[in-house]
Amino acid sequence: MIKELLLKTRSYRRYDENIALTDADVEAIAEAVRFVPSAGNLQRIRIAFVNETLQNAEVFETLGFAAYLKDWRGPSAGERPVGYAVLMTEGEPDTNLAIDIGIAAEAMLLTAMERGIGGCIFRSFKRERLSEILNRDGLTPVLVISFGRPAEQVVIEDIKDGNVKYYRDDGGVHHVPKRTLDDILV
Ligand SMILES: Cc1cc2nc3c(=O)[nH]c(=O)nc-3n(C[C@H](O)[C@H](O)[C@H](O)COP(=O)(O)O)c2cc1C
Repeated sequence: MIKELLLKTRSYRRYDENIALTDADVEAIAEAVRFVPSAGNLQRIRIAFVNETLQNAEVFETLGFAAYLKDWRGPSAGERPVGYAVLMTEGEPDTNLAIDIGIAAEAMLLTAMERGIGGCIFRSFKRERLSEILNRDGLTPVLVISFGRPAEQVVIEDIKDGNVKYYRDDGGVHHVPKRTLDDILV
């Protein structure tokens, strides 16, 4: 079951914007962060959850989508995220905190996917503008995760010739090359 969920938990960047996140969705996704490990059990991550139309639009404008898809500027109106979790810390994270954030992010994505909600992690965003939008004193945005009901198909495939670049085929299916087990076991 965990493998099935892991396989389904891809980075989705196009969503059905007609289906909002419920309060229960937001709570479940945020709560996942309570249950994960953290260095020294310090639990230094804070989450600003945005899932209201006007602020969603503002956060959307700060994001950089899919750098490898050169001809794509990001999702059109109607297929944009319906919510965002912004993972925040006091100042720039040290290495341990950066690891904590990665663990938390995947836990949130898995929790969301189990509820039929897809997501995508963003490190490419306009930092100052996002801080301004969120207005959380003393906290710095480190990672953004978008959420919504997926409106695209994403598949993984074995990597060919070491090419890690994901691509979209003529039918709009997003393909993600993954290294094989032989490649990663050393
Ligand atoms: C730390 C991190 C930063 C990422 N930043 C971005 C980003 O800024 N924009 C984006 O579209 N995708 C971003 N992604 C998503 C990756 O492109 C995605 O994980 C990768 O293509 C593999 O696809 P998969 O998640 O479906 O396995 C990021 C992922 C991670 C883990």
